Amino acid sequence: MVIYLDNAATSYPKPTAVASAIQNALEVATSPGRSLHKLARNATLIVQEARQKIAALLGCTEESIVLTYGCTDALNMAIKGILREGDHVVTTALEHNSVLRPLRRLSKQGIIKLSIVDFDEQGYVSASKIANHLTPQTKLIAVTAASNVLGTVQPVAEIAELAQKSKVLLLVDAAQALGTVKLSLEGIDLLACGGHKGLLGPTGTGFLYVATKTKLNCWREGGTGSDSLSALQPEEMPYHLEAGTPNVLGLAGLAAAIDYLLERTVSDIAKHELRLTELLLEGLAKLPKVKVYGNRFDRRIATVSLSVHGYSSEEVAAILDESFQIAVRGGLHCAPLVHQQLGTTEQGLVRVSFGPFNKVDDVEALLAALLEISQC
Ligand SMILES: Cc1ncc(COP(=O)(O)O)c(C=O)c1O
Repeated sequence: MVIYLDNAATSYPKPTAVASAIQNALEVATSPGRSLHKLARNATLIVQEARQKIAALLGCTEESIVLTYGCTDALNMAIKGILREGDHVVTTALEHNSVLRPLRRLSKQGIIKLSIVDFDEQGYVSASKIANHLTPQTKLIAVTAASNVLGTVQPVAEIAELAQKSKVLLLVDAAQALGTVKLSLEGIDLLACGGHKGLLGPTGTGFLYVATKTKLNCWREGGTGSDSLSALQPEEMPYHLEAGTPNVLGLAGLAAAIDYLLERTVSDIAKHELRLTELLLEGLAKLPKVKVYGNRFDRRIATVSLSVHGYSSEEVAAILDESFQIAVRGGLHCAPLVHQQLGTTEQGLVRVSFGPFNKVDDVEALLAALLEISQC
């Protein structure tokens, strides 16, 4: 049996109800909104239910939830839907490539100007540093709610206050936060998330929250199953941004996953995962050849990055996989600027990330394996 400690990539295993919900959807549902037969109606209900559950989890209206195929999809939709020629954007060195790449392309094409704010020694960005970069042309602040490398939870509420005060839109990448971190939507205009990490749903699911007052150009255009005579994409939200057949099977699984999450409770899962993280950090402190990055017990999620002296991160990940059946991730984690600032671009970092189904035994097995590797 593999010990899975790569939940920041995608959560595994999924709650058992997820597989049953997908199996059921396979049997009773087809494509929603297009046809009126029962199989199509069932699909429409599945999509509606997933949207309702996401909206209830976030505390917003259903019209604000645009269903997407993942967090990358949602971030592209937000960034490309909101920015226009001459806009200025402030983002941070903690961001994932799904924020950095679309922004850098627009910047390279001369469409926008981009400022990138660095993080402090503990792995946090600050509202005051972001404020220093705002200009009259700043349209958007794009910030991650939690670093996918360092596990640090960012001061989103303070940044939201700054954005509101400065009349700048705020886009939050919640890929690593939702499911364990409680986020208030106050002051947030756009929030992107996948359904397959902390929300425990299947891959290929996600959403973009769009505040009622925020207007986005549609990034993907096509069939919505409604208003077919209209030459252009319907204006009505969320369909304005939702063209094409949705991932009905995935959304069925996501709705079941959210039920599990709410039953077990977000705070119970967070408490469990953070206890494992604390045990790991305590154990790692006793291994002289292991260095932990962004180490802090508070304001964090259950993601820890480390290096082992004398090894590249990929070597450590491969040894853990092959000799100890422990799955972690080595490398750069699609967050190149984090490594640039930490000076870890060459070696990469070994990332360990816990999920709701990990146990204390998993932490002990990892610590024993790292001790053995570091003694070789
Ligand atoms: C912080 C962050 N943002 C965005 C993404 C992209 O998410 P998805 O795989 O759902 O497209 C990830 C995935 O690893 C992430 O960690």
